[in-house]
Amino acid sequence: MSLLEVRQLKVAYGGIKAVRGVDLTVAEGELVCLIGANGAGKSSVLKGLVGLVQHGGEVRFAGERLTGRPTHAIAASGVSLVPEGRGIFARLTVAENLDMGAFVRRDRTAVNIDRQRVYELFPRLAERRGQMAGTLSGGEQQMLAIGRALMSGPRMLLLDEPSMGLAPLMVQKIYETITRVAGEGVTILLVEQNANLALHVSQRAYVMESGEVTLHGASAELMSNPQIRAAYLGE
Ligand SMILES: Nc1ncnc2c1ncn2[C@@H]1O[C@H](COP(=O)(O)OP(=O)(O)O)[C@@H](O)[C@H]1O
Ligand SMILES: [Mg+2]
Repeated sequence: MSLLEVRQLKVAYGGIKAVRGVDLTVAEGELVCLIGANGAGKSSVLKGLVGLVQHGGEVRFAGERLTGRPTHAIAASGVSLVPEGRGIFARLTVAENLDMGAFVRRDRTAVNIDRQRVYELFPRLAERRGQMAGTLSGGEQQMLAIGRALMSGPRMLLLDEPSMGLAPLMVQKIYETITRVAGEGVTILLVEQNANLALHVSQRAYVMESGEVTLHGASAELMSNPQIRAAYLGE
């Protein structure tokens, strides 16, 4: 059975149909990517999943219906979104930002364990725990956004373009941690414009064009698909 099951997801903004009936599944422990050009509807899919935008269709997580539930209830059920542009609190410190990620949790001991785990995963955040988040570099802010999402103790992470705007070395660092988090058993749905990167770290992939999934399959197979190579891998 799939941990996440999405059937006929539809998102529209006024007259603009951004997502036109997307079917998608992610099994427990899988790292699945969603690739596609700018404007294809990838972020709208993620926002629809966590209830940040009005949507049609059905979303099930661990067998429970998420559709129509408020965003905090969805977060409490174990799905955590790291949004495009990171969405950190610039005027709070690193430590305060991490605490914000855990605000729905009551078990302080578990929260303390997760905070240690985040600091271990990102030693840079540990060094800068008292620093105002707005003064961090782009890559450090991305680490903080992922760290904050992990502080909710999620079963599933939704990552929206974690590599965007980062220098190659920082992209590599972020992707090492994504792979590590996945290796620790967190299920991941990764949205990327950088198809090459996403296909390399994921097991399966969905390709979106103009609001629809046009292709899906094993990432290794898609990487050798001539259509994909021409359209997304710059060949
Ligand atoms: N808040 C919004 N209001 C109106 N149109 C939007 C809004 N957000 C996204 N769109 C439109 O929906 C389409 C899909 O956008 P998006 O989901 O952000 O794509 P992607 O993440 O793949 O770049 C685009 O045409 C975009 O202009
Ligand atoms: Mg986007």
